[in-house]
Amino acid sequence: MAKTVTNVMAVQILDSRGRPTLATTVTLADGTVARAGVPSGASTGSREAVELRDGDASHFSGSGVLQAVANVNGEINATLAGRSFADLEELDGTLIELDATSNKSRLGANAIVGVSIAAARAFATSEGRQLWEYLQPAGVTARLPVPHFNVVNGGVHAPNNLDFQEFMVAPLGAPSIAEAVRAGAEVYAKLKGILASRGFATGLGDEGGFAPQIDHPEEVLALLVEAIEGAGYRPGRDGVGIALDPAASEFYRDGFYQVAGESLSSTAMIDRYEQIISDYPVWLLEDGLAESDWEGWEHLTTRLGERIELVGDDILCTNPTIISDAISRHVGNAALIKVNQIGTVSETLVAMRICRDAGWAQFVSHRSGETEDAFIADLAVGTGSGHIKSGAPARGERVAKYNRLIEIETAYALRYGLA
Ligand code: PGA
Ligand code: ZN
Repeated sequence: MAKTVTNVMAVQILDSRGRPTLATTVTLADGTVARAGVPSGASTGSREAVELRDGDASHFSGSGVLQAVANVNGEINATLAGRSFADLEELDGTLIELDATSNKSRLGANAIVGVSIAAARAFATSEGRQLWEYLQPAGVTARLPVPHFNVVNGGVHAPNNLDFQEFMVAPLGAPSIAEAVRAGAEVYAKLKGILASRGFATGLGDEGGFAPQIDHPEEVLALLVEAIEGAGYRPGRDGVGIALDPAASEFYRDGFYQVAGESLSSTAMIDRYEQIISDYPVWLLEDGLAESDWEGWEHLTTRLGERIELVGDDILCTNPTIISDAISRHVGNAALIKVNQIGTVSETLVAMRICRDAGWAQFVSHRSGETEDAFIADLAVGTGSGHIKSGAPARGERVAKYNRLIEIETAYALRYGLA
């Protein structure tokens, strides 16, 4: 059933970090109106689709998105309004053609992704389907993902000493989303008490996790195990596991990884991870090495790829071409999935299909700058990706996604978990 677009518009709003982003609206001829909020990252991969910022120092210190807004209200609206599209792929293809760059730098990936997400929502609504059903590829079983709660923030997401960016707790053994969210929230509350009792500050980083002044990642891991046990759960794959996103590109300088005052070679960094996964219930490692260290990634995959999930974020950028390359070079065994990294929903679904076909896992993700838009919850469910990360079990923009998962679970009783 073809859909006729009558209007596309955008306005500049604030994201969760107080920086400008876009809210977009797509209106269809049948009266459907759908909105989207555009996410934005801080530790971005160098090959991500380009987010257009105004650079006008007198306006939000240069971070305004008025040009991207103008591109939606001008050129994009002029091209889409009045046209009929057989499906989202056709609409996304029109946006890609209109932009006519390889990285969406002319119109802005932030402008394009906002229109793509709002259009996906509009098309789903127009067909009377849930967004997750609309996004579900043929032959794929919809499933509720294991939420990965980022409870300690470091790196560029927090003003502390911690070099690793994200320490997540994952209720892998929970029977349902409702119980997984409860486990995440209980561990988070327990951790807060433990940190406070040891004299650490309990202020929050960008994704809602605590940002204590701790140097060594191992010290944080020990606190997490204590919090998991203290909250009454078993640390590990049959209870609450741990996932790490060091975001290593951010502490890779001149060929060495700078961690807690030490300068580690790629091999020494892999040794460190091997020790960490022997000592702590870490089941997933995202961006353990830098995006430019492909050789290191090959070794990392050879050494640890059978034991844990190795997720590529900055190195892959949700880009189907780069993911295909990584698959053939045995670099990692999973891809992080961020819609704004590639810039359209259709290309994101292609990236996920490539992963599925290769037996790779797909880890659906928010960005450090978020809005209340819960699109990724539906994306994770519809594609049966098995896991999702959306920050701490606290703060509106983070819990919007988890709450949407609870809503879906309650209404549709889908299966929960990775397998
Ligand atoms: P970002 O970080 O959204 O700031 O890029 C998230 C991540 O590295 O996974
Ligand atoms: Zn990451």
